Amino acid sequence: MTEELKLLFSKKEIAETVARLAHEISADYANKQVVLIGVLKGAFVFLADLVRQLTIPVEIEFMRIASYGSQKESSGEIIIKKDVEISLEGKDILVIEDIVDTGLSLTFLLDHLRERNPSSLKICALVDKKSRREVEVEVDYIGFTIDEGFIVGYGIDFNEGYRALPEIFVVD
Ligand code: IMP
Ligand code: MG
Repeated sequence: MTEELKLLFSKKEIAETVARLAHEISADYANKQVVLIGVLKGAFVFLADLVRQLTIPVEIEFMRIASYGSQKESSGEIIIKKDVEISLEGKDILVIEDIVDTGLSLTFLLDHLRERNPSSLKICALVDKKSRREVEVEVDYIGFTIDEGFIVGYGIDFNEGYRALPEIFVVD
């Protein structure tokens, strides 16, 4: 891989942002048990850091969805590769995503999860590319908002590369 990477968010900025989100989530869900659903693979590092700063009890589940499209754009044609393994009926669900871009993946995921009759369903995304939205979805907890650019690192990939980088970079 030979793409040129430019540092966007440092370890310190990421740590501060994750701490802020953990604080907000812990306060909002005080006295509740929440099921966190990490969306693989991109959210795995974010989820791992986030859960260790929460002060509420959580259950952790994972989903994996795949969308057909080009390397950098999702097509909106989405399939579930791995589903949650527990009943969500009557539970408080918080979806943990790496990035919300067009919103197509998340809309599909939310429709799928709503059919399981959770008692609440919210979204936490590390990065929100709000200006690129094609379908309206409300993100309840947002780490960073960026306008454009393709990013990698901290779990987020380009062609499966760069996920292990501890900081977030823009690919030129
Ligand atoms: P959406 O369906 O367009 O909202 O796509 C969201 C998904 O596309 C994210 O969860 C990522 O997996 C991927 N994605 C969107 N933007 C980026 C990016 O800048 N870098 C890496 N993956 C991205
Ligand atoms: Mg994703």
